[in-house]
Amino acid sequence: MSEPIIRPLLGDCREVLRTLEADSIDLIVTSPPYADQRKNTYGGIHPDDYVAWFLPISAELQRVLKPTGTFILNIKERVVKGERHTYVLELILAMRRQGWLWTEEFIWHKKNSYPGKWPNRFRDAWERLLQFNKQRQFHMYQEAVMVPMGDWAKKRLKNLSDTDKIRDESRAGSGFGKRVANWVGREKVYPTNVLHMATETRNRNHSAAFPEALPAWFIKLFTQEGDWVLDPFMGSGTTLRAAYRLRRNAIGIDIMETYYEQVKASLEDLRVPQLSLFEEQEAYEPSRPE
Ligand SMILES: C[S@@+](CC[C@H](N)C(=O)[O-])C[C@H]1O[C@@H](n2cnc3c(N)ncnc32)[C@H](O)[C@@H]1O
Repeated sequence: MSEPIIRPLLGDCREVLRTLEADSIDLIVTSPPYADQRKNTYGGIHPDDYVAWFLPISAELQRVLKPTGTFILNIKERVVKGERHTYVLELILAMRRQGWLWTEEFIWHKKNSYPGKWPNRFRDAWERLLQFNKQRQFHMYQEAVMVPMGDWAKKRLKNLSDTDKIRDESRAGSGFGKRVANWVGREKVYPTNVLHMATETRNRNHSAAFPEALPAWFIKLFTQEGDWVLDPFMGSGTTLRAAYRLRRNAIGIDIMETYYEQVKASLEDLRVPQLSLFEEQEAYEPSRPE
């Protein structure tokens, strides 16, 4: 297969997204600026304004995503005046009204979150990864993210009870059942919707980078080689690098020139063919932020 095409673009995604083709993207993975939180680095959005700010962007994302595609939104509501603000919950409802299906919610458990003491809460060690789709039938390659069965299974599967050998219907009458014996002899199982991953901001010169394993996991789950991945808030370019390593094509957008330059340099290190980058920059004239 030919080298993946990786296109970092400089500009405001509210404008740049309009230049992308409709129904052209297989997966969007992104972590937008958090409400007001990073005011000193790249300008925050007031929590009360967050939904109104995001909806025109999600409308464009809906336009560029293929009907079989998936949108993964990494977000976490901040604490305002002692309580969790509700903008994420409001955003989910507003995006459903916009036509999105809120298919699933994954949790990113940040294994190495800072110890600390707060008067009325414990340290925050998780973020949401909201999954939105345009339709119920979307591409999903579950085998690509299977995990080793683990030691517990060896013990559990060694001495199967009679119930384990038949389908054990839920006692609560939920309609769910399981047949434990189905897993005998298997090396791998499907993962849960909780991703245990450490943050790694130190080497990245970006205050809010997510670990490369995070976009990589969703890229494997929702795309195949040669598909197109988009990150409209690319930051240090984590999604683009993950896509390149997994041989997917990718487009990333950032409003900050420093991040854009940084991403280009980091892609050079990965030996992305420069031709594709420069061709794209000539074709696209981004309006620069004031
Ligand atoms: C949370 S960071 C993304 C970090 C990224 N996931 C990474 O791993 O480095 C959000 C990024 O969005 C960019 N940004 C903020 N407003 C933007 C806009 N309107 N259009 C494009 N990028 C924007 C910021 O410059 C910042 O780099």
